Amino acid sequence: MTRRPLVGGNWKMHLLRADAEAYCERLRGESAALPADVALFPSAPLLALVARGLAGTPFACGGQDLHPEEKGAHTGDVSGPQLADAGCEWVLCGHSERRQDHGESDELIGRKAVAARRHGLKPLICIGETLDERRSGTTYEVLDRQLEAGLAGRPEPCAIAYEPIWAIGTGETATPEIAQEAHQHIRETLADLIGAEAAGSKRILYGGSVKPANAAELFSQPDIDGFLVGGASLDPEGFLAIIRSCG
Ligand code: PGA
Repeated sequence: MTRRPLVGGNWKMHLLRADAEAYCERLRGESAALPADVALFPSAPLLALVARGLAGTPFACGGQDLHPEEKGAHTGDVSGPQLADAGCEWVLCGHSERRQDHGESDELIGRKAVAARRHGLKPLICIGETLDERRSGTTYEVLDRQLEAGLAGRPEPCAIAYEPIWAIGTGETATPEIAQEAHQHIRETLADLIGAEAAGSKRILYGGSVKPANAAELFSQPDIDGFLVGGASLDPEGFLAIIRSCG
């Protein structure tokens, strides 16, 4: 089963318009064929600018979150139609910083993924265990619960990002063996949920302190189909190096 790699650059709450413009200009100048599908996830005020800046290139753009309703009195939130209108193709659902900082439940994340598809967006559903959960041996239980809720019975289209919380922004990357073990488990659970064929074609990304220096080794694992990159995506050269390591 060949799966085209996918690499996401999650800018989180970083960068200003001038940075984003320079970044897009750098990507527009990248003429080499990409070995992966690529999407950038800027914060909401930068989305339209980045989508415009990347129009006509192979680089796509996505939101970091969406509200499950399509409109209404939800101060500070962003809707699926607004993301699509800004030029987004993807949206992150259930990033651990949303789960932790905003108390997002598994059920809410499932509704967000459903709303994303309704508005023509592809959800990138993020799952991952805390250090305590890993230490107490409940990692697979947590991943299975988050996965099933995030899919909400509708697997297409979507991609999955496995992001162990203890590896996010900590500089501590999961070893390729630990990551592969989790990815293989996720694919097995997916096979139970959506069937072996669909599970075999589903892209499962690894996220958590991915850098140019560790990307190739992680990517060499059979069930790692690309990356969701935070800190290292803020520098276009580093991000491009990570993308190239998926070749
Ligand atoms: P990091 O973040 O690469 O900075 O660890 C990854 C993520 O949160 O998506």
